[in-house]
Amino acid sequence: MRGGALTGAASFCARVTLMQHVIRSQQFDRKTIEKLFALATQLQTAPDDSLRGKVMATLFYEPSTRTRLSFESAMTRLGGGVISTENAREASSAMKGETLEDTIKIVNQYADVIVLRHFEAGSALHAAQVSQIPIINAGDGAGQHPTQALLDLYTIERELGKVDGIHIAGVGDLRFGRTIRSLSYLLGKFKDVRMTFVSPPELQMGDDIKAYLKRNNVAFSETENLASAMKSADVVYQTRIQKERFPDVEEYERLKDSFIITRSLVDSMKRKAILMHPLPRVNEIEREVDSSPHAMYFKQAGYGVLVRMALLKMLLGGKELLPIPRVPASHNLHGNV
Ligand code: CP
Repeated sequence: MRGGALTGAASFCARVTLMQHVIRSQQFDRKTIEKLFALATQLQTAPDDSLRGKVMATLFYEPSTRTRLSFESAMTRLGGGVISTENAREASSAMKGETLEDTIKIVNQYADVIVLRHFEAGSALHAAQVSQIPIINAGDGAGQHPTQALLDLYTIERELGKVDGIHIAGVGDLRFGRTIRSLSYLLGKFKDVRMTFVSPPELQMGDDIKAYLKRNNVAFSETENLASAMKSADVVYQTRIQKERFPDVEEYERLKDSFIITRSLVDSMKRKAILMHPLPRVNEIEREVDSSPHAMYFKQAGYGVLVRMALLKMLLGGKELLPIPRVPASHNLHGNV
């Protein structure tokens, strides 16, 4: 297909020049994060339709409510268009045997950016390797979820006024939970951050993240004492036990009710401390907690629109915006920057 705004040579060249991918948290440096957050806050009050004429494809091979809809909301608010396959595993030609690589090459003909959620760790990097337009990793299996980490960090910055010096307790499924993995990578960019990991032994944080934290001078400890962690943390980051990642259903059943956050636990938090959760929740935060002033998870999800607007604008909006550092081609998924 040739001609028209979608595939004209000029717009294709412009896309290639500005091409960046968002694959994992480590690729963001502190300067880029600060620029992104300033833009996100600006976009909250300043109407902006600078992406008029651009098209975003959301290609989701796993279920989603927040990530897909907030990206679609973000693009729509910036004046752009959206094409979408929300259940790509069954409702796209993947069902007929098409490879992810071929699908990416095809969607390159229809869109200016692809937001990809896939069930395999490493899939976003593979997609980026064959894509001429930006790929945004919207969650790849138990790998990473970098845009969730960015909105999590933005929530901390907005609600606490800083990231340097905070004590954050990560709770629940730290083994399969990609959001806390990605957030840990981002926290390594800040000063004097301390982490407490609260999980059953079977769901402890991976050695790759712990090695990264050590290299980046983030002090961390591991415990099963949730009550103590909640009393001392500035941020409690609860996570869902990731049923879909367990090879053994019986192990999931045994562990699924580990570390439920109750109203009395939340009432013991420091006055300005916040309780976050990437959502969806099952029963790991009791409903009575929702009315607590510490409960930040619904507001956190709302911040996702602002952060994703800023990200889309940085990727597609023009040369004057600070480019997002590229993922070096030689890096594998867990390469540490
Ligand atoms: N936090 C998050 O990724 O939510 P969804 O699975 O609903 O997108």
